[in-house]
Amino acid sequence: MKATAIAPSNIAFIKYWGRKDEALRLPENGSISMNLSNLLTTTTVEFNKLFKEDKIVSSDKKEDSAKQNGNEGNRAIKHLDKIRKLARINLKARVVTKNNFPTGTGLSSSASGFAALTLAGVKAAGLNLSEKELSILARQGSGSACRSIPDGFVEWLDGDTSDTSYGVSLYPENYWDIADVVAIVSKNKKEVSTTEGHKLAASSPFFPLRLEKINGKIKSIKKIMETKDFKAFGELVEAEALELHAIMLTSSPSLIYWLPGTLKVMHAVKKWRQEGLEVYFTVNTGQDIHLICQKKDVEKVIEKAKEVSDVQKIIINNPSKGTYLTEEHLF
Ligand code: DP6
Repeated sequence: MKATAIAPSNIAFIKYWGRKDEALRLPENGSISMNLSNLLTTTTVEFNKLFKEDKIVSSDKKEDSAKQNGNEGNRAIKHLDKIRKLARINLKARVVTKNNFPTGTGLSSSASGFAALTLAGVKAAGLNLSEKELSILARQGSGSACRSIPDGFVEWLDGDTSDTSYGVSLYPENYWDIADVVAIVSKNKKEVSTTEGHKLAASSPFFPLRLEKINGKIKSIKKIMETKDFKAFGELVEAEALELHAIMLTSSPSLIYWLPGTLKVMHAVKKWRQEGLEVYFTVNTGQDIHLICQKKDVEKVIEKAKEVSDVQKIIINNPSKGTYLTEEHLF
C-alpha cells in the first residue's frame, strides 16, 4: 500500500483564470499548456492501518502533522479523503513530498504537487484509474494539476461537468523543440494565493470581454501549434500573459504579482527581440518569469538572462512527459 509518483509542473500558454464551479474547480475557460522537464514534485503515499493520523511531510519544512501544516496540509488531506472514498478504504496516510524548485513564487507547485499526490495516492489505495479519471481527480486538488497528468502539450477541455473537464495530450513532448527558461527573480512567497486570486477574476470589468474572446484564442493557438509558427506562437503567448495580468490588476481588490525584477526581465525580453533573439515571456501568479524560446536559442537566452541584475537563478525546461510512477520511494 505504498506508491511514489513524479509529476512535472506545467506552463500555461492560454491561462486558467476564474472558476465557474468553486467546489469542483471547473474553470471559466479551457487552457493550453506544456509540461516542464525540470520543475518536478516527487511524492510517496502509504496507507496503513497502523497510522493513527494523516501525516504530511514536505522536504521544504520540518516534519509536521497535517494539522500543523495549515491550508496546504488541509487541502492535501481533503484530496486523500477523495481517494479513500473512491477506494472505499478508511486507512490513514503518510505522505512525503519534495519539490526540486522553490514553491509559492509562481512556478505552479500546486500543479505538480496535486498531480503527484493523485497518482501516488490512487496507486497506494489499490485503484487503477485511466488517464482521464486521474486528470479529473487531480483537477479537484488544483485546477492546473489536471494538465500535468497527460504527456507533452496539453489542452484542458472546458466542460460544464466534472466528467467533461480534464486534460488531454495534444502532442507528445518530442513534438516541438521549444524550451522554457525560468528566471527566478526573488524567493519571496506571494501574498495572495492562486486559489484566492481566482475568486477575484469576475470583479474585473474586463473579464467578460476576455471570456468572449477566449475560445477564438484557443482555436488560434492550436492552429499555430499545428504549423509550429514560433513567432506567431510567442506573440500570442506573451499577449495572453499580459491579458491575464490586466484582469488581475483591474480586479477588486487588485492583484499585483510582479516585482521590479519581473518588469526588468519583461523590458529586457523586448529589447533582445529587437536585437534579433526570438524569445517571449509569460508569467503566472508570482514574480518569476518564463522565457519561451526555440531550443537552438536556449544558450543565448540564458546568457542574456544572467546579465539582468535581479535574476538569481535560472531553470531550463524542455517539454516533458506527464506524471508517472517510480519505485524509488521517499521513505
Ligand atoms: C495563473 O491551478 O494554481 O497559473 O485550482 O486554485 O489550485 P487552483 O489554481 P491553480 O491556477 C493556476 C493559474 C495560473 C494559470 C494557469 O496555470 O493556467
